Amino acid sequence: MVNLCIFSFFGIFFFAVAAASQELFYAGFRDATAAASLTLPDIAKIENSGILKLTDDTDMKQGHVFYESPVRFKNSSHAKPFSFSTTFVFAIVPEFPSLGGHGLAFTIAPSKNLLGFPSQYLGLLNTTNFGNFSNYLFAVEFDTVQNVEFEDINDNHVGINLNSMISSASTTASYFINDGNTKQHINLRSGIPIQAWIDYDASVNFLTVAISPFSTKPKKPILSLNVDLSPILHEFMFIGFSASTGVLSSSHYVLGWSFSMNGPAQTLNIDSLPSVPGPKKTYSHLAIGISILIVLIVITGIFFTLYKITKKIDIIEAWELEIGPHRYSYKELEQATKQFSNREVLGRGGFGKVYRGTIPNSKTQVAVKRISHESKQGLREFISEITIIGRLRHRNLVQLLGWCRRRADEDLLLVYEFMENGSLDSYIFGKPKVVLSWKQRFKIITGVASGLLYLHEGYEQVVIHRDVKASNVLLDDEMNGKLSDFGLAKLYEHGENPTTTRVVGTVGYLAPELHRTGKATTSSDVYAFGALVLEVACGRRPIGSRSVLEEMVLVDWVWEKYTEGKLLEVMDQKLNGDFNEVEAVMILKLGLLCSKDSAAARPSMRMVARYLNGEIGVPDEIMGPRMVEGGNEFVDSSSESKDISFASLSTSSLSVLNGRS
Ligand SMILES: *[C@@H]1O[C@H](CO)[C@@H](O)[C@H](O)[C@H]1NC(C)=O
Ligand SMILES: *[C@@H]1O[C@H](CO)[C@@H](O)[C@H](O)[C@H]1NC(C)=O
Repeated sequence: MVNLCIFSFFGIFFFAVAAASQELFYAGFRDATAAASLTLPDIAKIENSGILKLTDDTDMKQGHVFYESPVRFKNSSHAKPFSFSTTFVFAIVPEFPSLGGHGLAFTIAPSKNLLGFPSQYLGLLNTTNFGNFSNYLFAVEFDTVQNVEFEDINDNHVGINLNSMISSASTTASYFINDGNTKQHINLRSGIPIQAWIDYDASVNFLTVAISPFSTKPKKPILSLNVDLSPILHEFMFIGFSASTGVLSSSHYVLGWSFSMNGPAQTLNIDSLPSVPGPKKTYSHLAIGISILIVLIVITGIFFTLYKITKKIDIIEAWELEIGPHRYSYKELEQATKQFSNREVLGRGGFGKVYRGTIPNSKTQVAVKRISHESKQGLREFISEITIIGRLRHRNLVQLLGWCRRRADEDLLLVYEFMENGSLDSYIFGKPKVVLSWKQRFKIITGVASGLLYLHEGYEQVVIHRDVKASNVLLDDEMNGKLSDFGLAKLYEHGENPTTTRVVGTVGYLAPELHRTGKATTSSDVYAFGALVLEVACGRRPIGSRSVLEEMVLVDWVWEKYTEGKLLEVMDQKLNGDFNEVEAVMILKLGLLCSKDSAAARPSMRMVARYLNGEIGVPDEIMGPRMVEGGNEFVDSSSESKDISFASLSTSSLSVLNGRS
């Protein structure tokens, strides 16, 4: 009994000592002892003014600072953690007004050497561990970029992250005034000093976060969470900050910091802290809504960014490939393609010319697509599109490796993996040099189907290809079919003036409803896939000539033969009858089914994949592909329809609607 008393007495005593020794207070970091007590493992540094700078406006970087010694958070590994309280003042100065990324976080981490990634990972976690319960990572993020993958609510939020980049709770950056009755918005990216308070009350498992542009702590927090941090905190942890930049960057500063275990953190006064350096580049406070000025600034921003790009030699790092597509310098691509020499032109595909290239340092073979168009879209939107497309990974999709944008209104360059064997159409139509065997054709069709299924269902957003056709299927060295140009239609659309609506596409691949609604859907992709399937099997274009006078629509002809019971007569003559009949019948029936005039009668790509795998049989056709009511006339929607989608323009394409006028 006595022993137990002594034990508990020592317990309390130690606890008190632990708490006392874990009182940190930095009103600026100028003081030499202050500096010596911190570990700055990467680009973070303390400036002469005493301000702590986590990142500057260098792209794709991360900056960390940690209190050098581990901090005791528990009495033993199984005990409950202590209560803690911290307050700090930070400032985020974007590279250009309202354009910057990615944010800053206060963190309690198991190590001072976080193997985090920059960009949306905020230097905290990486692509393998971004949501794993053995991370032992606590963070409160001040995030200035919306990342859909991590379910970010917007591009100006505060979030509580427990072992994950997906916040357990988050809210738009704001603070309460008037005793908690009125909420005031804060722009994290405004460059002004913002004070944050994070308090954890272990006795009730309650965590609160408050922020304010003033030193008075708001009466009411903006974010709170009932959480027991026992499973997240080890006995000893490291405390500090992490920040990162991405394709867009900001300078992240900490002006002062105070931390306390088992008691309120000592107060900081913003006015007595080092002041925030102004942005190096043009900076003006703009009311959101003065859109003309914003457009001007975005254009200035793009101009400066491009100035920076051309002055910089980019190096591809493995993590950059994992995060998303790489930004190439214009010079690099100019060199790669021998000054965009006409001799390096691989083709004139959707949107522009495609050049063969070899990236100077790595010797990687690439295809560089040069898109010239008048763009009115903002840099940020453009980057988010590129990021989405760049994140799509599938063995049957041609990978986007990177991009480059030279002038605000001119060249957009996209860099793709190089496809050895060129496009499928050169093997199918006319008199090809190499005749594809049935086995190869079957593999190409199933490959394309699997790529398209991934676009429709495999990613967090539904991606509609909008221009599935033989010339957009590229073949690698093993004759695997890979879809190219996916998602680009959307990119193109952003640059287009929405009032000049028109449907552009490739005749024979356009689903009939597209002419009426102008809206591309997954079923219009299925329709185009059906046309492709029939072409590959029959070795003919979707619309060709039967004789000098008569036009032949491939799907009608296949249907005709089918009803006559002579289906296999449509098979490509070049195969010389060398094909698997069961597979051929299945493929032709599938082609007919996908080519139905009625979108509702077409299968989904998931069903198509099941047919191709032989899981289920393709149903016998009774109705034929054409609509009974004959409602597939072209309707000119040039003036009213707003929601028109664009597909690629190429030499084999025809503009269908008011492109005529
Ligand atoms: C991610 O972080 C974990 C834990 O810190 C580390 O083991 C792993 O190697 C990192 N992964 C990458 C791809 O860097
Ligand atoms: C979490 O990380 C541990 C250790 O790094 C690893 O063994 C485990 O597979 C990971 N779990 C998940 C779901 O990724």
